[in-house]
Amino acid sequence: MNHIALYRKYRPKTFDEVIGQDHITKTLQNQIMNDQIGHAYLFTGTRGTGKTSVAKILARAVNCLSPVNGSACGECENCKRLEQENDINIIEIDAASNNKVDDIRQIREKVKFMPVGAKYKVYIIDEVHMLSDSAFNALLKTLEEPPPFIIFILATTEVHKLPQTILSRCVRFDFRLVSVEELSRHLAKIFDKEKIRYDADSLKIIASAGEGSVRDTLSIADSIASYCQGDITKEKTLQVLGSTDNELSLQFFDKMNEKDVGGVLSYIDEIEKQGKNMAVFAKDLSKHARNLLVCKSCKNAAEILNLPDDLLEKYRTQAEKFAEKDLIRYMQVFSGAESELRYTLSVRLLLETTCLNAMLGFDAKKN
Ligand SMILES: Nc1ncnc2c1ncn2[C@@H]1O[C@H](COP(=O)(O)OP(=O)(O)O)[C@@H](O)[C@H]1O
Ligand SMILES: [Mg+2]
Ligand SMILES: [Zn+2]
Repeated sequence: MNHIALYRKYRPKTFDEVIGQDHITKTLQNQIMNDQIGHAYLFTGTRGTGKTSVAKILARAVNCLSPVNGSACGECENCKRLEQENDINIIEIDAASNNKVDDIRQIREKVKFMPVGAKYKVYIIDEVHMLSDSAFNALLKTLEEPPPFIIFILATTEVHKLPQTILSRCVRFDFRLVSVEELSRHLAKIFDKEKIRYDADSLKIIASAGEGSVRDTLSIADSIASYCQGDITKEKTLQVLGSTDNELSLQFFDKMNEKDVGGVLSYIDEIEKQGKNMAVFAKDLSKHARNLLVCKSCKNAAEILNLPDDLLEKYRTQAEKFAEKDLIRYMQVFSGAESELRYTLSVRLLLETTCLNAMLGFDAKKN
């Protein structure tokens, strides 16, 4: 049986199907409806947030003879032609493997030619930050005076690597990480279509594990759905993920904050019963302490952490309950324990002492 990965099967085809990027899709839809299309766009943001999908939707929409709500109609002759993969009017270039100046020169020679059976020729240059300096310069010349029937869409995960000269010639759109709520709703729709059963908790856990990337979320959902044979439960979900999710780390830190010895011990018991790797758990805790510290001490925490808004808010609230010096100690203690936990024979005992010492402010090494 051929299984198509969920993230391939559910690639959005219209602006309305794109989730979590309303600030971008609404603007582009308006541009199409008002015939105010730009000639150079720059799409930036983490992987799996919709850059390539939106680039393709835009490329089809600008060519459609009668767009519906700003997206391609799918019915007109242009739409029918562009639906075929490798249509000559939509040119996708992976800059990671075509980063030489000659590759860009070839583009420059070809942009002179009119589109065939379409209104625009659209060049989608993915991972554009990989271009060499001379390739950037060659691209710049084309961006300066593009023929009116050419549109460039540049996409990158690493916008800081682009020269200012390129940035200043493009209309820039920043793709956001998608919130756990939106990801959960999206997952629920897809599971319903696929006739996969699930519960609300599993949705949330899978959505958080994706850390704001739709593609990652769908890949994780894929592996969990096949492990659970179409009936997803919270227990199995946690087993597959192997590490505690953010929600669990939040709960654990609450217990430590309350100096709840019994709570901490029974929590570790629970982790053990679920068959989780204790070293991974310690690493999660150290990462969690670090995230709280960033929330507490950095003005641009949102940028550094790059987390969904709702999760960030929870971190912020929790960070207020801890002193900076305690968070620093937690980071040290848990990252130190991570490697020890990989080698010790009494894993559980070591984790318990580490947690309790850290919580009560003892320095394990000195006592
Ligand atoms: N904003 C989004 N809305 C809906 N699905 C998305 C979105 N972003 C990513 N996806 C899913 O992830 C897959 C890969 O997305 P893609 O557009 O290639 O991401 P990027 O180019 O940002 O890495 C898509 O096929 C789709 O299944
Ligand atoms: Mg992409
Ligand atoms: Zn059309």
